[in-house]
Amino acid sequence: MLPRIKDLAATLSPRLIEIHRHLHSHPELSGQEHQTSAYVAGVLSSSGLHIRETVGKTGVVGEITAQGPDPRLLAIRADMDALPIQEATGLEYASRRPGIMHACGHDVHTTVGLGTAMILSHLRDSLPGNIRFLFQPAEETAQGARWMIQDGVMENVSAILSLHVFPSVPAGSVAVRYGALTAAADNLEITIIGESGHGARPHEAIDAIWIASQVITSLQQAISRTQNPLRPVVLTIGQIKGGRAPNVIADQVRLRGTVRSLHPETSAALPQWVEEIVASICRPYGARYDINYERGVPTVQNSHQLSQLIEVAAQEAWGYEGVQVLPEPSLGSEDFSLYLEHAPGAMFRLGVGRKDKPNYPLHHPQFAVDESAIVTGVVTMAYAAYRYWHQCS
Ligand code: NI
Repeated sequence: MLPRIKDLAATLSPRLIEIHRHLHSHPELSGQEHQTSAYVAGVLSSSGLHIRETVGKTGVVGEITAQGPDPRLLAIRADMDALPIQEATGLEYASRRPGIMHACGHDVHTTVGLGTAMILSHLRDSLPGNIRFLFQPAEETAQGARWMIQDGVMENVSAILSLHVFPSVPAGSVAVRYGALTAAADNLEITIIGESGHGARPHEAIDAIWIASQVITSLQQAISRTQNPLRPVVLTIGQIKGGRAPNVIADQVRLRGTVRSLHPETSAALPQWVEEIVASICRPYGARYDINYERGVPTVQNSHQLSQLIEVAAQEAWGYEGVQVLPEPSLGSEDFSLYLEHAPGAMFRLGVGRKDKPNYPLHHPQFAVDESAIVTGVVTMAYAAYRYWHQCS
């Protein structure tokens, strides 16, 4: 089956490049993927898939009904949203929309999802079981997977696969990861409430700015002395707001940040840990505080069996040199983790690194991919999917 999948992908390649360039030049922000999802729905239905539109607000679901007897339903997920970034790649197919750019490769994810759907739809008579393609909106805002799941896309799903582009792996290769792939990411907002006063008479006021600075310093110091160094925690305060004038003591400061962790026990304990530190600093100075610790997405914990499915499929397709096993997880986050609360799954990294050209990180205004990676992604995904019913018991 692999040679057949490779042939089909090679034949489809010009069409896939065309799809990718269309998507790249027409990016849409999270939750506003109306044209993208209409375009995706068009390609899916012309490839013979049964589609459902406006699933998860602006998402699309396509399903291949196979002839085979295996009741296990495989899902394949692709995200479709772009970022509020002004593109500076100079590519001929650069974004036509000022201030919006596919800088995280979700245009590649959508293209690979469509290519995989076209090939597997063509091979439906040889598929042992059914496949459901989830084209989700709003991954960047960590909302889309939740919306899709609320609309029932995980009903009857036995396993789910996905991929994310990776500029530090060369195009033509893929990377798999056993265990944790990405971190749990939570949002933190701390308001320190003091009392205003004259800048010359600090003893008559409660200085919220100074207390906030102690809170930031203590949180960073406490991580190094209270958290197990083998279970990483990263806490970044990315925004501070407070104060009215240089000679007026601020009565209120708002700190906003992100908290990343990999270990479920660590994640569970973090809200209370933050509160204890903030409380211990505010108390002696008579300041009050308000903490809003909002759970974001959990860790993407890849299923061993499904990572192996991808690794073996990729090795057969690209040889041992075309597959890396990632030794470390990332502290980035992915709302793919929410699907994993409903079925086992695995996400792999698709190398998109360009040869002889600079490679910029994800979310960079000059981020660009080697488009040959699209065929690599399609073949790997289609072949892994095909093997799912044979390899996984
Ligand atoms: Ni992304």
